[in-house]
Amino acid sequence: MMRELSIKNLSLKIGQKSIFTDINLICSSNNVVSYQDLPTNSCHNLNIDNAQLAQYTPHSISELTRNISKDRNGFIVVIKGKNGSGKTCLLQCISGMIPRHIKGELSGTILFTRDGTEVMIYPYKDPLKVHPNFFSFLMQEPNKQICFPYIEEELLFGAENLQRNFSDVKLEYEMLLDCFPFLKSKGKETSSLSFGQKKMLLFSAMVLKDPDIFLLDEFGVGISEDFKKIIKNILLRLKSKGKIIFITEHESFFDEDTDRILYL
Ligand SMILES: Nc1ncnc2c1ncn2[C@@H]1O[C@H](COP(=O)(O)OP(=O)(O)O)[C@@H](O)[C@H]1O
Ligand SMILES: [Mg+2]
Repeated sequence: MMRELSIKNLSLKIGQKSIFTDINLICSSNNVVSYQDLPTNSCHNLNIDNAQLAQYTPHSISELTRNISKDRNGFIVVIKGKNGSGKTCLLQCISGMIPRHIKGELSGTILFTRDGTEVMIYPYKDPLKVHPNFFSFLMQEPNKQICFPYIEEELLFGAENLQRNFSDVKLEYEMLLDCFPFLKSKGKETSSLSFGQKKMLLFSAMVLKDPDIFLLDEFGVGISEDFKKIIKNILLRLKSKGKIIFITEHESFFDEDTDRILYL
């Protein structure tokens, strides 16, 4: 599956205030690569250069694909900037919340393409044409986002609603419970979780929903180093599935795994 998010000359004003100007970014990912798909001189989307390609012969296609799917095929962008620099606003633009639900003067384009099907996020023509599962947004404040009284409901609602394949969901569900054991006990209320645990619950629900684009706002805040390491591994796994991931943060935790750092 080929996914691409292209942001061109994006500028945002809220009221009289200019929040950001002229952001340009292309995030490409491709998680099924056949040998024929690879041009001989370069493979721009996957950042593979001649030297790397030359190591492989047509006999080692599976090796090639394995290597690509291990660390080349998704796209992680880390957005940095001081408080008020527009990190959250940029995620809200990508999700379409600005200017649909939050007022703002936006210019430029945001285009998402999946296997040749285009979703024009901005400027948009028909809001109903947005694919229901092209993105998921983890907000800074989890208390504003949790909808259900019980953990299990919160975790599974999105996946159920989208009628995802049961066996895929089951495997991922078990993996997530192993990573985040506090989500385990039956009948446990969402209100009993801490701030950071609530974020991990919402993130797990996103993983089970399986969107194309993950928008993670200040994910690291309120989460201990041990859990951050676990989350990093899950993000790398999502990247290997060809997902496009945006994370805003002040620290440098994800810097080494990122494909692009955007400073606002
Ligand atoms: N709904 C809104 N109405 C008016 N101003 C807003 C709104 N949302 C954000 N802003 C302003 O936009 C700027 C960027 O905010 P934000 O994206 O939340 O910054 P960051 O996430 O980088 O801390 C801030 O100056 C903020 O006050
Ligand atoms: Mg913010």
